[in-house]
Amino acid sequence: MVSRVIPVDPFDLVLFGATGDLARRKILPALFHRYQVGQIPPSARIICSARGDTVASEFRKQALKTLKEFAPEAASDETALLEFVELLDYVGVDATGDTGWSKLAGMVRPDVTRAFYLSVAPPLFGPLAKRLKDRGLALSDSRIVVEKPFGRDLESARALNEELRACFQEHQIYRIDHYLGKETVQNLMALRFANSLWEPLWNSTHIDHVQITVAETVGIKGREDYYDHAGAMRDMVQNHLVQLLCLTAMEPPSRFSPNAVRDEKVKVIEALDPVPPEDIARGQYREDAGGDSYRDHAGNPTSQTESFIAMKVRVSNWRWAGTPFYLRTGKRLRARESEIVVAFRDPPHTIFPSAGPLRGNVLVIRLQPDEGITLRTTIKDPGPGGLRLTEVSLDMSFAEALGADMRAQDAYERLVMDVIRGDQTLFMRGDEVEAAWAWADQIIENWEGRRDTPALYDPGSSGPEEALMLMHRDGRRWRQIGD
Ligand code: BG6
Repeated sequence: MVSRVIPVDPFDLVLFGATGDLARRKILPALFHRYQVGQIPPSARIICSARGDTVASEFRKQALKTLKEFAPEAASDETALLEFVELLDYVGVDATGDTGWSKLAGMVRPDVTRAFYLSVAPPLFGPLAKRLKDRGLALSDSRIVVEKPFGRDLESARALNEELRACFQEHQIYRIDHYLGKETVQNLMALRFANSLWEPLWNSTHIDHVQITVAETVGIKGREDYYDHAGAMRDMVQNHLVQLLCLTAMEPPSRFSPNAVRDEKVKVIEALDPVPPEDIARGQYREDAGGDSYRDHAGNPTSQTESFIAMKVRVSNWRWAGTPFYLRTGKRLRARESEIVVAFRDPPHTIFPSAGPLRGNVLVIRLQPDEGITLRTTIKDPGPGGLRLTEVSLDMSFAEALGADMRAQDAYERLVMDVIRGDQTLFMRGDEVEAAWAWADQIIENWEGRRDTPALYDPGSSGPEEALMLMHRDGRRWRQIGD
């Protein structure tokens, strides 16, 4: 299957924080891949910016190395690589001072799409936005892209929104949640809204519960300063898991347009009930065989921050009343795996009494790795004599179905190009982020008020016992991580 690549119009993309980790690992490789497939025209310019003063030719050399490291397949396409780095320019800019701004103003062109990507620490979002406006660099259709974390609570998110909106209008602001750029996350919308099979069943009459799991094997080492102040709730649930919940639970938007989709997501967030303490299990990984625990990694021997959280969430609306959503995410777990499990209700009556109780169908949407869909179905156990039943999985791996050579596209490839195209559908609107914080804040305040301590769990496990109990208590079971 050949994917269709539609080249975007010429653009100037100014990448602040161009020597930082995210730019090197994700953004530059994503731009290179889009160039390689012909989506970025040769007249595009990527103006990289950071604090240090260096010349463009030196920066290009660094970029070559970076791309060979983080886009290894690039190394085999030397011609494209050399062409691509020629699109890169460099300017040293001081985000909070005056240095470099006049030079930058002289580099951007007046007649092409203009985007500013703030791949910098959140405290610099406001100062950078203000300078872009004061220096006349931000035009009425320029775009500004900001990364997560977008605030650490409702108050800071509101302040950030105000700072940005003082300089840019909402239609110019692109708040990234990279989960929305993942191919399979978009596929969730296709599955729901491009097929007539599921929609009639997609409600509490037919669905018993939903499980959303984002499990990781990595710990927090290297990001300890940020993570120990955030924890799994702020780092993953408030954004990525809430987004997955929204796409699973939302009403069909009338069209696939930025505001139609985001309006429906906001309605879901606003329908989330507060989560009582007994419906939450927080965990922290204990020492591994090498003797390193979360607290060692965090450099904080008394840390109460959770590296794991599981919770039962209720969506209070007509469609979902009575169908809980169980969310679970954590570090240093058994496997790296993200999936959405939609568990249908058991058949109401059996005509095969001797075959034992019938179990409901289970639809598993695997987001990563090995993206695909599985549907657990009951069939007749083959063979003569009697009628026995057995469960099998209808299993579709997207890589197999769509061609093994289909390169898994990184979320940033899609998102960066959407910025240039001016499509905000896969970006979070200001009110959406605030609504998610308003919900998360009360949960966090609740456990902070009670001085709640996370339960310890073994690295390589599925999380603490309390998380299993959360489900068992309701007569349900998590799907095994790494199955
Ligand atoms: C980031 C979180 O937003 O998402 C990280 O800050 C997490 O803690 C990462 O590891 C997970 O992203 P992915 O794409 O690897 O699932």
